[in-house]
Amino acid sequence: MGNEKGRDSSQRAVSRVESSLMDLGSTKEEGLRKIASAKDDAELFSLEKEYFGRKSGVLTEAMKALKDLSPEEKKEKGRELNELKAALEQALENRRSTLQGAKLGSLATEDALDVTMDLPERERGHLHLIPEFIRQVEEVFGRMGFDVAYGPEIDSEEYNFDRLNFPKEHAARDNQDIFYTKGEGKPGNRMLLRGHTSTVQIRYAETHKPPFRMICPGKVFRKDADATHSPMFHQFEGMMIGKDISLRHLKGIMVQAIKELVSSDIIFRFRTGFFPFTEPSLEMDIQWRGKTETREGKWLEVAGCGMTHPNVLRACSIDPEKWQGFAFGFGVERLLMIKHQIPSIRLFYQGDLRFLEQW
Ligand code: DAH
Repeated sequence: MGNEKGRDSSQRAVSRVESSLMDLGSTKEEGLRKIASAKDDAELFSLEKEYFGRKSGVLTEAMKALKDLSPEEKKEKGRELNELKAALEQALENRRSTLQGAKLGSLATEDALDVTMDLPERERGHLHLIPEFIRQVEEVFGRMGFDVAYGPEIDSEEYNFDRLNFPKEHAARDNQDIFYTKGEGKPGNRMLLRGHTSTVQIRYAETHKPPFRMICPGKVFRKDADATHSPMFHQFEGMMIGKDISLRHLKGIMVQAIKELVSSDIIFRFRTGFFPFTEPSLEMDIQWRGKTETREGKWLEVAGCGMTHPNVLRACSIDPEKWQGFAFGFGVERLLMIKHQIPSIRLFYQGDLRFLEQW
């Protein structure tokens, strides 16, 4: 009886499995046909679900049904099923990439992108001629062994005047020349927009032991405006302190630097001048040449300089009996005006591309 029962149930199992395992040949044919004619990804996805879906996918069901078969049948049907599975998967994959390719292909007509078309010329920016010149200044003096230092643009009367040996009543401190900030600082030591880069001589000398040589480029501010003056302009300061530094070194270095920075055939002169922080003091002029007839042959003052006053050294705790040296301050815009024959200082700041693109 056990046997009878066994046979019965196994036969039932076979027929159930058969219906689920169906005719694998025609399933394959139908599946491949449907997949090959799927129109888009969505259709492919639903076909994938129909065959491989976890819940009632045709192949998933058939796989489940395998367990009821006898070992030999299981082996055979299992192999067939695996082949079918691989064939359908491959077909899905192929159709997917065909559809993908067609999609890209249609971009060529639908999206009309002409890859042979010329693009507009790429515009390249460059530094404004002032920072570019300052970069060159740092390089030229760097080669001569000068350190580069920077100082604050908002500073105090102490650094702008007192420690540079300006007497309290000196005219340069006048409200008419200097921009003082409102409500900051103390009486006798007001805060201001620095009027020259000489402030950095002090800041550098009080934090470095001689011998040293340094330059300091930066913005300075004065209440001045005409063709060669602007309320904001740029200077670079230089200072060299050592045991036996003399005016010869000062002149040699200034002339060498200017020849490299402006032109090797500049015509220059040194005149005596006066600055509270140098003794003796000199001014350097360069002759204006070229297209601007109104200034042709005229001299343009480009720098103040001199031997550092002993009081300035003392204010930085440097012993003037042991150390001496020189300092200079150049106007950046003035040098550039001579170099490129620029008629007005205002052109530097107007942002007019017709001007800026020339350099
Ligand atoms: N600070 C001066 C000015 O702005 C220029 C100057 C003169 C700088 C003499 C110096 C110097 O270092 O020694 O007019």
